[in-house]
Amino acid sequence: MSKWDRPLPPRRAREVGAARRSCPAARSALAALALLAASLGAAAAGNDDTPIRNYGIGRLASAAEIAGWDIDVRPDGSGAPPGRGSVKQGETLYMERCAACHGEFGESAGRWPPLAQGKGTLASNDPVKTVGSYFPYLSSVFDYVRRAMPFGDAQSLSNDELYAVVAYVLYLNDIVDENFVLSKDSWARVKMPNAGGFFDDDRETSEKAFWNPNPCMTNCRPPVHIINRARALDVTPGDDGTRKRGVD
Ligand code: HEC
Repeated sequence: MSKWDRPLPPRRAREVGAARRSCPAARSALAALALLAASLGAAAAGNDDTPIRNYGIGRLASAAEIAGWDIDVRPDGSGAPPGRGSVKQGETLYMERCAACHGEFGESAGRWPPLAQGKGTLASNDPVKTVGSYFPYLSSVFDYVRRAMPFGDAQSLSNDELYAVVAYVLYLNDIVDENFVLSKDSWARVKMPNAGGFFDDDRETSEKAFWNPNPCMTNCRPPVHIINRARALDVTPGDDGTRKRGVD
């Protein structure tokens, strides 16, 4: 019997039961756990015919629920939803839904993050990371806005609105002109200024010189020789209440 098969001890079972009844967050966490358990079970089942066990909690996610989470978009645009939106449509939306925080020109209002400018600053002492100066792919902007913006009202934009407002953010960064219409068809025409600014982690070769080919694995530290004690130096307060305290 594996530890997963064992029944829960009664107290734990009660807690879990209570959580399932009263707390929606715990309920969905449990559902996620159940899914994980199911997929682990499936992986563990591998090639043999061990049946997937039912733990009596959660349920399988529906196709609609999976579709709700499955919103990632690849740099080439695959995964992007159907839709289209122009810079002009985006301007109206941007002013209504984004400018209060990001500024009318993407320059930022107050301390909210800027979305434009900053080109050429990345290697300076004061890098300004924006869509134009930093983001490597159109999908990075699209996915960010789709998932998380407008801040506080995330995922409230329709697909067409999303395309339009992203087109406008590109326009603010001089990446497209004012007549541009963003859709899956025009996706590949967008060239992000910092597309070449990222590279694969090359530390394995670039930092090889720093590596010790024969790292110490046993008794690596010489014996410690204590030369004084904090209390003797009077930097740590004593516990008898009579000594002067360190911070007094
Ligand atoms: C209430 C303020 C607010 C509004 C309105 C808002 N944003 Fe944001 N936006 C933020 C904050 C805060 C962040 C940074 C979040 C973080 O770093 O976790 C952010 C980050 C971003 C980023 C990533 C910036 C970067 O360089 O990392 C983009 C792109 C963006 N917002 C676009 C938009 C668009 C488009 C809209 C309108 C549809 C919008 N935002 C509306 C507050 C706002």
